[in-house]
Amino acid sequence: MRPDNVPADRVIEFDVFAPPGGESDYFAAWDTVRGKHGLLWTTANGGHWIAADGELTRQIWGDAETFSSEALAVTPGLGEAMRFIPLQQDAPEHKPFRSAIMKGFGNNHVMAMEPVIRSVTRDLIADLRPRQGCEFMQEFAEIVPIHVFLTLIGVPTEDRAKLRPLGQQLTRPDGTMTVEQLRDAADDYLRPYIVERLANPGQDLFSRILAIPIEGRPWTLDEAQRMCRNLLFGGLDTVVSMFGNIALHLARNPKDQALLRERPDLIPQAADELMRRYPMVSVTRNVVHDVDMDGVTLKEGDLVYLNSSIHNLDPKCFDNPLAVDFERNLPPVRHTTMGVGAHRCVGAGLARLEAILFLEEWLSAIPTFRVREGTSPTYRAGNVGAITDLRLAWD
Ligand code: HEM
Repeated sequence: MRPDNVPADRVIEFDVFAPPGGESDYFAAWDTVRGKHGLLWTTANGGHWIAADGELTRQIWGDAETFSSEALAVTPGLGEAMRFIPLQQDAPEHKPFRSAIMKGFGNNHVMAMEPVIRSVTRDLIADLRPRQGCEFMQEFAEIVPIHVFLTLIGVPTEDRAKLRPLGQQLTRPDGTMTVEQLRDAADDYLRPYIVERLANPGQDLFSRILAIPIEGRPWTLDEAQRMCRNLLFGGLDTVVSMFGNIALHLARNPKDQALLRERPDLIPQAADELMRRYPMVSVTRNVVHDVDMDGVTLKEGDLVYLNSSIHNLDPKCFDNPLAVDFERNLPPVRHTTMGVGAHRCVGAGLARLEAILFLEEWLSAIPTFRVREGTSPTYRAGNVGAITDLRLAWD
């Protein structure tokens, strides 16, 4: 049903979890909403707004006063189940938590991760190289972020086997686990470490964050769990998806592979450009108070869905946005792959480092690679769009 504040010419039927053609090309599927209006109303998933224009997407994303982060997603019940800190908090509550987490992710700590990330990346690639091909998502992309997370929180990387199924449910849910079961499984895994780090802080990421008081008082166990859960879920399927998109782009564009092999100094800016070109995260905001925008009134409580490709691939926001140009050299804060404003990704520096090290190690070890003949990559849309299958081959 169309609410009173929605004009008839704004109504579409677009399921953000199954956009038309999304399983074969996620970006093309999202491009179909771009058009003559900046705000559209989809009847799917209970009805919500979708920002269909780049500038408007960025504007709403950055306006935390009018648009609250509490909802988390249009999926009913997801926000209530997860209660993420800091992702679902609004000002002023958000600030002290975010600031503690940002300190935990200080640049020196991220840079100190380089040897570990490089070594796990290198080891995986060394195993794959003689096989002349792989299913990239399961055999590489899903493994690295779990390993990095375990190292960050200072637990044995053998625990990878325990977290792997959770990561897979997040990236490729098969319907066997509800959101609550997924949350509980993550909490059950994390709880002993959190309790230990609250009592006896060490040098790891959780300890560093939990040692910073929140407005002069210690973190409660509930707050600590909500934060640790956010870090776990925030840094798995997003990074998996980033790896998949980078690998797919290079597999389809051997000239870009050759350029980066020849000019490895371009790799850091290539990582930024590939992250701009292939953004996979969407967020949901609730309207805090009635507001007029783009010729319509958004009502208090309405949900607005923001997809970063709508901004990053808008020709009004970036010149020739579909082209990958390693010398575009724009600061990463210009695109919305990592969000914009108060909630911009706290793991952005870490994700960028993972991308750079992947490019360096992969391109120096694997010869020219391609999508395996007779196969096509498959995608799954959602709050984090994912590549679910990517067969690569090399000679
Ligand atoms: C390529 C990889 C990644 C992408 C594309 C990504 C994307 C994003 C985006 C778009 C937001 C903003 C959400 C919003 O505005 O509602 C965000 C926030 C966040 N991300 Fe990431 N992220 C990535 C990696 C990571 C990593 C590695 C971690 C941690 C280990 C992480 C932890 C978080 C957290 C905790 C927030 C919430 C920040 C806040 O609410 O203040 N992310 N991320």
